[in-house]
Amino acid sequence: MKLPQLVNVLLLGGGGRESAFAWKIAQSGRLAKLFIAKGNAGTKSYGINVDINPTNFGGIKQFVLSNNINLVVVGPEEPLVKGIQDFFASDPEIRYIPIVGPSMAGAKLEGSKQFAKDFMSRHNIPTAAYRSFSKNTIGEAYAFLESLKAPYVLKADGLAAGKGVVICSSVEEAKKELAEMLEGKFGAASQKVVIEEFLQGIEVSVFVATDGKNYKILPEAKDYKRIGEHDTGLNTGGMGAVSPVPFAGKAFMEKVEERIIRPTVEGLAAEQIDYKGFIFFGLMNVEGEPYVIEYNVRLGDPETEVVLPRIETDIMELFEGIVYGKLGEKELAISPKTAATVVAVSEGYPGDYEKELPISGLDMPSESIVFHAGTALKNKDIVTSGGRVLAVTSLGDTLCDALSESYRTLENISYKGIYYRKDIGRDLSGEECDKK
Ligand code: AMP
Ligand code: GLY
Repeated sequence: MKLPQLVNVLLLGGGGRESAFAWKIAQSGRLAKLFIAKGNAGTKSYGINVDINPTNFGGIKQFVLSNNINLVVVGPEEPLVKGIQDFFASDPEIRYIPIVGPSMAGAKLEGSKQFAKDFMSRHNIPTAAYRSFSKNTIGEAYAFLESLKAPYVLKADGLAAGKGVVICSSVEEAKKELAEMLEGKFGAASQKVVIEEFLQGIEVSVFVATDGKNYKILPEAKDYKRIGEHDTGLNTGGMGAVSPVPFAGKAFMEKVEERIIRPTVEGLAAEQIDYKGFIFFGLMNVEGEPYVIEYNVRLGDPETEVVLPRIETDIMELFEGIVYGKLGEKELAISPKTAATVVAVSEGYPGDYEKELPISGLDMPSESIVFHAGTALKNKDIVTSGGRVLAVTSLGDTLCDALSESYRTLENISYKGIYYRKDIGRDLSGEECDKK
């Protein structure tokens, strides 16, 4: 099976990650038409925005049928966890339209922390020691906490909009937090809680594309999660990212492939879980040894904004390989350049923030790619519409060059209260960069 020579694509999502997907898909020699549901003010440059919610499966079905869509690419996790792939596969009218994204069973790798941990345990994939508990076993959970050393890591089992992981420094705090979680602090998502060992190390995000049997390792990335410089303050969706990651060298990546990637893909196949899409391995490098912190069943945001610009291959070829089990026949070319992205956010994010603030400077000439994340059009003006507003990506021969370019571009962009971290990548780029 093959995609038609010219493909009509529907991309689901509307953040920075989907802007990067739209940008990359728009460059494909095999694109007929690109639609984005719902997209943002920036994705309009690459395709046609469609006002359908990515979890409105009925609406999506109508749209793909009336617009001759040949391929659906899913950006965020929610439609996957809710079973969009199964919805298509079980409907005779649309079952022939392939989806880039796993089945509901595969999406449990992200949708249930307990499932993910049990899966790793079944397949001997290195991860932090853990146990999971519910309200009925709270007594055992307290005893387990007492057997561990600080800090304590508590994870809501289900999807909790990125907020479901709580790290506590004392056992008293951990018990209190656990009780609150089991009482429904994160709704149904925290009816079960995974308690796990704290891993000390440095994090790296590794991505693969898989057709369920073959896989291709995409460029790795480092994400900067905290709102404040020097990794201080609240956790966010991600304030910047760089790729490649110097501490994820050849020896480390070989361990990642042998101990983590291959057993994961083989484990999915052995359990007959249909998985055609991307796997995001959130890893901790503990003194050179890789451990899985979490799986996600999609690409990362803002990591995608540095991963896709380094992929030289036509992305339609990659998609075709993924959905028809032919990834083994496809070549993946990766640029040796370094990519860096810096995310500009709304004042107050990750807490409350104002919206609909006009953005200026987007039309200034620049070498960077300005990916829109939370933007919208209001009477022809581009305005802010989310916490993360823009992700400014640059490619350079060195990390320092890429970062300098993104910061130069950001100097020309403004909206009321614009904030971005000035230290993205500085831990990796060295002092030379500060002098420039
Ligand atoms: P997650 O929502 O699973 O990405 O977790 C949020 C963050 O919590 C991760 O990015 C890590 O920084 C941290 N974290 C999660 N699990 C652990 C662990 N076992 N040890 C140390 N840090 C962790
Ligand atoms: N940047 C982390 C994520 O996408 O989950």
